[in-house]
Amino acid sequence: MAERAILVLGAGGHGKAVVDLLLGLGEFSVAGVVDAAPRVTEILGVPVLGGVAEAARALAAGAAYAHPAIGANAARLAAGAWLEATGFALPTLIHPSAVVGRSATLGAGVVVMARAVIGPDAAIGRLALINTGAIVEHDCTVGEGAHLAPGVVLSGGVRVGARAMIGAGAVVLPGVSVGADAIIGAGAAVISDVAAGTTVVGVPARNVDPNATTT
Ligand SMILES: CC(C)(COP(=O)(O)OP(=O)(O)OC[C@H]1O[C@@H](n2cnc3c(N)ncnc32)[C@H](O)[C@@H]1OP(=O)(O)O)[C@@H](O)C(=O)NCCC(=O)NCCS
Repeated sequence: MAERAILVLGAGGHGKAVVDLLLGLGEFSVAGVVDAAPRVTEILGVPVLGGVAEAARALAAGAAYAHPAIGANAARLAAGAWLEATGFALPTLIHPSAVVGRSATLGAGVVVMARAVIGPDAAIGRLALINTGAIVEHDCTVGEGAHLAPGVVLSGGVRVGARAMIGAGAVVLPGVSVGADAIIGAGAAVISDVAAGTTVVGVPARNVDPNATTT
């Protein structure tokens, strides 16, 4: 097994995207994929080894690195903590076509997909997912386990809380805060702060939670 062998946890759609990223990177050999309930036997030619119990076997066989390729934010964080407790290191994975500002900081297990851009002094928390073509402008902070879907634009100085999900193509105006666990609908224009745990959609973004008291 190569020196930098990596295990992927998660055999769904996001697992496939991460395997594709890893195969293109060439920095790791992909030891295999494990999943809580595997429904496929291989992903892009990489074997699905079985249930998560197989992770310990992969570690013993020399896979020192792992990534929890789970789209659901809280589940990704929990799986990442479990992988670390099991003994794996969580590397940051950055597609070669992404641009990351020199003074930006990325936590353990952050994934930056193709053509994403992260500006100077942006800070990305552990296991956040910066998806295809997303733009994180200067001085933004993105909390742990947050997901910026494809094509999201965070203008300068935006703050995104832990586990928040920003839907595809949404735009967040400069300096706006998005609370932890908030959900921003695809295509939204977020012009004011979004409270933690709320869902907003549209242009401009409005709260769609039942019994909502904030916008
Ligand atoms: C916002 C979102 C999470 C809401 O999902 P949901 O809770 O299942 O909500 P519903 O589909 O029941 O829609 C609730 C209302 O919001 C509207 N709505 C939902 N998504 C919307 C959006 N993106 N923009 C505008 N309106 C939207 C619906 O039309 C509906 O309106 P109505 O009550 O007047 O009929 C979802 O629609 C969304 O945009 N998800 C982002 C997905 C994404 O980008 N994934 C990236 C994966 S890589």
